[in-house]
Amino acid sequence: MKVLVIGTGYVGLNTGVVLAYLGHHVTCLDLNTQKIDSLKQGVPPIYEPNLETMLTLAYDHLTFTTDYDQADIPGTDVVFIAVGTPSNKDGSANLDYVSQAAHSVGQRLNGNFTVIVNKSTVPIGSGNWVATLIRDAYKETHTAPPQSTPAGIPSSLSRETSGGDKSVNLSGGPDSSRSDANAGLLRPAHKNYAIASNPEFLRQGSALYDTFYPDRIVLGAEDPRAIDTLTNLYRPILNQDFAAPECLPRPEGFSAVPLVTCDLASAEMIKYAANSFLALKISYINEIAHLAEKVGADITQIARGIGLDSRIGPRFLNAGIGWGGSCFGKDTAALISTACEYNLEMPIIQAAREVNYKLREDFVMRAQQELKILKGKTVTLLGLAFKPNTDDLRDAPAIDIAKMLLLRGAKVRATDPVAIPNMQNQYPELGIEYYEDPAEAVRDTDAVLLVTEWPIYKKLDWKNILKDGQVKLIDGRNFF
Ligand code: UDX
Repeated sequence: MKVLVIGTGYVGLNTGVVLAYLGHHVTCLDLNTQKIDSLKQGVPPIYEPNLETMLTLAYDHLTFTTDYDQADIPGTDVVFIAVGTPSNKDGSANLDYVSQAAHSVGQRLNGNFTVIVNKSTVPIGSGNWVATLIRDAYKETHTAPPQSTPAGIPSSLSRETSGGDKSVNLSGGPDSSRSDANAGLLRPAHKNYAIASNPEFLRQGSALYDTFYPDRIVLGAEDPRAIDTLTNLYRPILNQDFAAPECLPRPEGFSAVPLVTCDLASAEMIKYAANSFLALKISYINEIAHLAEKVGADITQIARGIGLDSRIGPRFLNAGIGWGGSCFGKDTAALISTACEYNLEMPIIQAAREVNYKLREDFVMRAQQELKILKGKTVTLLGLAFKPNTDDLRDAPAIDIAKMLLLRGAKVRATDPVAIPNMQNQYPELGIEYYEDPAEAVRDTDAVLLVTEWPIYKKLDWKNILKDGQVKLIDGRNFF
């Protein structure tokens, strides 16, 4: 199939590379010429394990461009919009890039049936908004409105005639159980295109692995043709019948991937509900960790003891300085703000946020307790990225922690295997001393603060570094 991915960030680039590896013809479009030039040379503009290797393996099926007119939108089966949605000052998502992408696609749709998939993290309900943008842009370039059946789905392209075995739900989407609230927003299906939501659940640092071997694939659309097209696109992943790349072997026993099909709003909400649940699972274990510390209990054993209950599960129970990254903070805030528009409160998710962000202050207080006075003391941050295996600093605890330490007069050193250049570029005003070599960073320091659990830090000569307790080690990730 022919695929266009707009936006070459973590989501867009990883998705594009995996689909190209699976044999689809993928064009990656980004308006940033630097990124596209770098990708044309086979060099990823972001750090992600195995991305460079996979880029090489998939290179023959990949095209890179900055120009919509070179992307052959009329001949494309699936367009993924995966552009950034940075936060506005008030915390809401800035949807300018999504809007520009939808408009540029809408103007160029013509001929073939194309599914436009929203992969950017957008507020719930944005599928309908993107559909409106596309429809308006399409109208600009198509004077005669296209024909459609009164029921909405053009009969020549209905599921029955396209070889599907299920009956068509003409009045609505692929799932007749969709909510009535959403039904009111439906518009007649369009001859040339349909809108879908296909939330991604990939984690930075294991983005390619998560894309090849997901727990599930979620497809939301009102038009069954969109579900059919995307099911075909993902068939090799759903069936797990592709030849696994050597660098990312298929886990033992991993077989067919469950497919969830639903309406647009449900798909959009699945993403927010999943991320908020994971975020609150982490805040929950951190709240338990506070009490465990007071009563002298071991949080690692507690997490193991509760995680072995299959109803709870062992993952996302690692206590420490809490979550960061591009999703959890943003998605929990977005869910609360959407609820607010409906006059609803989300006290559980709100509490998860409060618990999480206080952990950063608590961590600095722990350093202060250990060192008594922070002013004039040298403190080394081990790790800057919001988690290992990424150079991403979005909502990274290290930033708040560094600022608080500097404010209290400490001399801050920092080291990270890949995130130092980003930190220097994004926070040039912070007077931090950077060290490529962690062994240098911890030499003659007063305290070492483990912020990101990069495995290499386990290999440092801790006996020598800690000098019989003269140097304090404050472990923010229950790593040691
Ligand atoms: C997350 C979701 O996992 C992914 O499904 C979604 O698509 C994007 O957001 P990501 O932000 O890349 O992925 O990282 P993730 O591995 O989920 O970790 C998020 C944060 O939680 C990190 O800061 C991590 O250090 C922290 N975390 C994670 C914990 O503090 N404890 C844990 O047990 C797990």
